Amino acid sequence: MSSPRNLCFTVSSLALMIISLTVILKKWHCGLREKDFGDAAPSMDLTPGRKRLLQQLRERQQEIVPFYITSQQELSEMKPKFSSVDGEHTKRNKTLWNAKTSGSDIGCNDLSGMTVVDFLGAGYTKTVLKVILPQGVSVALKSVNDQGTDMRSCLEDFKDPRGCQELVSFKLRKEIVLLQRLQHPNIVKLRGQCQDSALAGGVMAVLEQGTPVQMIQLLQRPWEERFRVCLGLVRLLHYLSNSPLGSVALLDFQPRQFVMVSGELKLTDLDDANAGEPACQAHSDCLLRFPLRNFTALCSPHGICEGLNEMRNLYNAYRYFFIYLLPHQTPAALKPLVDQIMNATGELKQSINKTLEVFEDILHVYKSGMYLRNMPISIIKVSATSAERIGTAGNMEYKCWLSYSHQGCVLSVYNATEAALICNSHPQCTSFSVSGQKTWTGRLLASFRSGFSHLVPDVSSTVYVRRSKASAAVL
Ligand SMILES: Nc1ncnc2c1ncn2[C@@H]1O[C@H](COP(=O)(O)OP(=O)(O)O)[C@@H](O)[C@H]1O
Ligand SMILES: *[C@@H]1O[C@H](CO)[C@@H](O)[C@H](O)[C@H]1NC(C)=O
Ligand SMILES: *[C@@H]1O[C@H](CO)[C@@H](O)[C@H](O)[C@H]1NC(C)=O
Ligand SMILES: *[C@@H]1O[C@H](CO)[C@@H](O)[C@H](O)[C@H]1NC(C)=O
Ligand SMILES: *[C@@H]1O[C@H](CO)[C@@H](O)[C@H](O)[C@H]1NC(C)=O
Ligand SMILES: *[C@@H]1O[C@H](CO)[C@@H](O)[C@H](O)[C@H]1NC(C)=O
Ligand SMILES: [Mg+2]
Repeated sequence: MSSPRNLCFTVSSLALMIISLTVILKKWHCGLREKDFGDAAPSMDLTPGRKRLLQQLRERQQEIVPFYITSQQELSEMKPKFSSVDGEHTKRNKTLWNAKTSGSDIGCNDLSGMTVVDFLGAGYTKTVLKVILPQGVSVALKSVNDQGTDMRSCLEDFKDPRGCQELVSFKLRKEIVLLQRLQHPNIVKLRGQCQDSALAGGVMAVLEQGTPVQMIQLLQRPWEERFRVCLGLVRLLHYLSNSPLGSVALLDFQPRQFVMVSGELKLTDLDDANAGEPACQAHSDCLLRFPLRNFTALCSPHGICEGLNEMRNLYNAYRYFFIYLLPHQTPAALKPLVDQIMNATGELKQSINKTLEVFEDILHVYKSGMYLRNMPISIIKVSATSAERIGTAGNMEYKCWLSYSHQGCVLSVYNATEAALICNSHPQCTSFSVSGQKTWTGRLLASFRSGFSHLVPDVSSTVYVRRSKASAAVL
């Protein structure tokens, strides 16, 4: 297998590729020429700075070319669509640009009537704003960060604001095409885009809105929520290892490149993604360096570092996410599986496929309550003195570690038996109720209490009273 980049050169119908690129590339070529040659004397001499800028622009262009069409198969699928009508190929058919996204895309027209309502974040390259579109939809809008490190260093080097705008915009263009080609529940959804330079903001990407990943906050969330983040990440890395663009590495892999959308982790920063394994001549070319560990992949007979991208992603997932989020407060029954994951990924002893398998196993065991079968349920003192259709009032809430609620002790359970086990292990617990409310895994939320003054009718939950302590309550 060769990398998508190489595949690109083997494409027989070069013309087709050129059509698909007309939309973006012609535009900046013209823009650039106007600017670079227009005001200068009609001579051929460019300053060395200009030459380097042009060279860099060319390189950035080359970098994204392979993402538009990457395989013979895709080419042949597209062919009838775009060459059937006579002269069709000469049109700048913008729908080609959007070939992989849905028809209800948000475009330049929608963006001209937007209202900026908030600042969501910024990095070296891009700024993200919360905007409301004319239709009332709220989205995240990415554009080039004019004050960012990328822009500043370009201006220092070339002192050419328009050229630098173009250069940095290529990163956002790359991100847009990657968001079109790589679609997964754990990658932020591209809802539209505008690459019309006539519009003030230049290149813009319209994304579903999330919130920044805050490790400190995540650490205080229940294990189930932290596991969800890690599982999402593993599913994402599995997808990236076998993606339509080949094996994809995230070169700038840090929590700030992700956002949370309704409890789910989603990758948002893709401009530093790299498709295809690196080339090599010897095994020593396939060294993967981290501050605390080095690894080496094998250089294949075809001259590529086999599996290097996957190794890089998986170890980064371990050092930035798993270490912090997985081990602490793991339910006892799941601890052996979680330990296995920690050991195996910390040493890269296990592929992403195997890692995903173990993660899905953990999810299954957790969801199905299988682990309760080995519990000494017979010793439970709190066997349901169930008061159906009755709730409690005047509850005395107590707080517990990693509760779903800040006010009281709310934990997820498989069923009332597991809740009884938990109540039994908390000295303060005298009663608990199981509501119909479920967590993302389908488990039930149970509220644990230290006492109550009386019972009141309630249709939404079932109350259980701990036997040995129930006598203290006024029923
Ligand atoms: N869809 C989004 N919703 C909310 N915030 C976002 C979204 N996408 C990015 N952000 C925030 O904006 C910051 C910058 O975006 P990013 O794509 O990482 O830019 P850069 O390439 O400059 O690092 C991110 O760190 C994140 O906090
Ligand atoms: C662009 O191509 C699509 C798909 O082939 C076609 O439906 C559409 O009419 C074309 N639009 C223009 C402006 O040519
Ligand atoms: C990793 O490799 C580099 C270069 O070969 C070396 O300098 C460094 O000491 C190694 N680090 C570890 C932790 O082995
Ligand atoms: C994980 O590693 C630790 C320390 O190296 C070891 O004691 C433990 O047995 C290992 N656990 C598994 C499941 O491999
Ligand atoms: C990993 O899984 C994917 C899809 O499930 C499969 O296509 C691929 O061949 C597997 N890789 C290995 C090395 O088994
Ligand atoms: C809870 O699930 C366990 C394990 O499946 C089972 O043994 C127990 O009877 C269940 N308890 C209730 C109240 O359904
Ligand atoms: Mg970023």
